[in-house]
Amino acid sequence: MATSAKAKAAAEDDRRSGNPVWNSNKFKLGVFGANVSNGCAMTMADGALETSWPNTKAICTAADRAGFEALVPVARWKGFGGETNFNGTCYETYTWAAGLSAVTDQIGVFSTSHVPTVHPIMAAKQATTIDHISNGRFALNIVCGWFQPELEMFGAPIMEHDERYVYASEWLDVLKMLWTAEEEFDFEGKYFKIQKGFHQPKPIQRPFPAIMNAGGSPVGQRFAARVADMAFVSLEKHDADTIKRRVSALRDLAHGEFKRDIQVWNSSYVVCRPTEKEAKQYLDYYVREKGDWAAVENLVRIFGMQSLALPPEVLEEFKFHFIAGWSGFPLVGTPEQIVDKIQMMSKAGMDGTALSFVNYQEELPQFIREVVPLMEQAGLRKPFAMAR
Ligand SMILES: Cc1cc2nc3c(=O)[nH]c(=O)nc-3n(C[C@H](O)[C@H](O)[C@H](O)COP(=O)(O)O)c2cc1C
Repeated sequence: MATSAKAKAAAEDDRRSGNPVWNSNKFKLGVFGANVSNGCAMTMADGALETSWPNTKAICTAADRAGFEALVPVARWKGFGGETNFNGTCYETYTWAAGLSAVTDQIGVFSTSHVPTVHPIMAAKQATTIDHISNGRFALNIVCGWFQPELEMFGAPIMEHDERYVYASEWLDVLKMLWTAEEEFDFEGKYFKIQKGFHQPKPIQRPFPAIMNAGGSPVGQRFAARVADMAFVSLEKHDADTIKRRVSALRDLAHGEFKRDIQVWNSSYVVCRPTEKEAKQYLDYYVREKGDWAAVENLVRIFGMQSLALPPEVLEEFKFHFIAGWSGFPLVGTPEQIVDKIQMMSKAGMDGTALSFVNYQEELPQFIREVVPLMEQAGLRKPFAMAR
């Protein structure tokens, strides 16, 4: 290995030494959507998440104490209507992450940043501040934005799909320059002009914090493969072959084209009950009986899905999964069945999953009590004890 390549590898090892998203657990766990009303479940069922600081703090500190790796918020500025105005009551994610960094000890704390809503100088400054508050546990989820009504509030015209990633790429270039440049710099791109750019202090994670991206389109996945440490896949099917194919394609792209090793995660919704029958019954209840079908109709309209002329049963299944948990992987069943499914994801090459629940306050502690020990027995995670 040439010296520069060796030095680069050593620097990358060093970068990965602090943030728990790079710990040695074979299958990593996160909590997804604890900053938005209803989390990921579009339902009127009792116990669905209400946005309040005590609620989000209780959920996130429970995950921290259980040794989870990631707290991933949803960036949202407006709800999706319906009876719940799904996600409409929500915390801004940099300030959310800053607050949680101060009250957690070991978990990775993410912000989700819509690039058209924040200037990269502001983003670099906020991210660095959180990285200092958390002592190097920050990670940045870069999202381009697709929900037109919320972006319109900023007066930011929604860009043509692929152009969003050109913008995001330049946004991240500026961010990285701010995070790394020791001297003032000028930058002139298509979207940003920076004169005598300057940023101190530098982040704790050197040269820059962990980056996540969940782009799903070919252009989005290419962006994730090129820049993200953690890429996310949304799975249209949940069998081992589909997962393997999707994960390998993404990892091969990162490795083959960009010489990068990346982690691949997804999101999952959890319904854990003593029997499979009870789990399925509850899923059916909170989706079919108590689901916010008006909100999901709005979502289908925003995605332009009616125009795709999908067979009714396909559209129905899509809606069901969105109501159940923002179309995540269904971890539905007994604790043993859930661990079998996680084992399958792990064998198919996935590194972790970000979990959502209907009732985070009750069901996350239950997951920690009943599922995590089985994951440890299965060799998917090491037993965790908080260093004191
Ligand atoms: C786990 C996960 C988290 C995401 N979080 C957000 C979010 O908080 N806000 C948002 O507007 N989009 C979010 N997205 C959407 C993605 O950033 C991306 O736009 C979407 O997957 C479509 O891919 P594309 O942009 O390549 O078309 C998320 C997607 C996934 C899978």
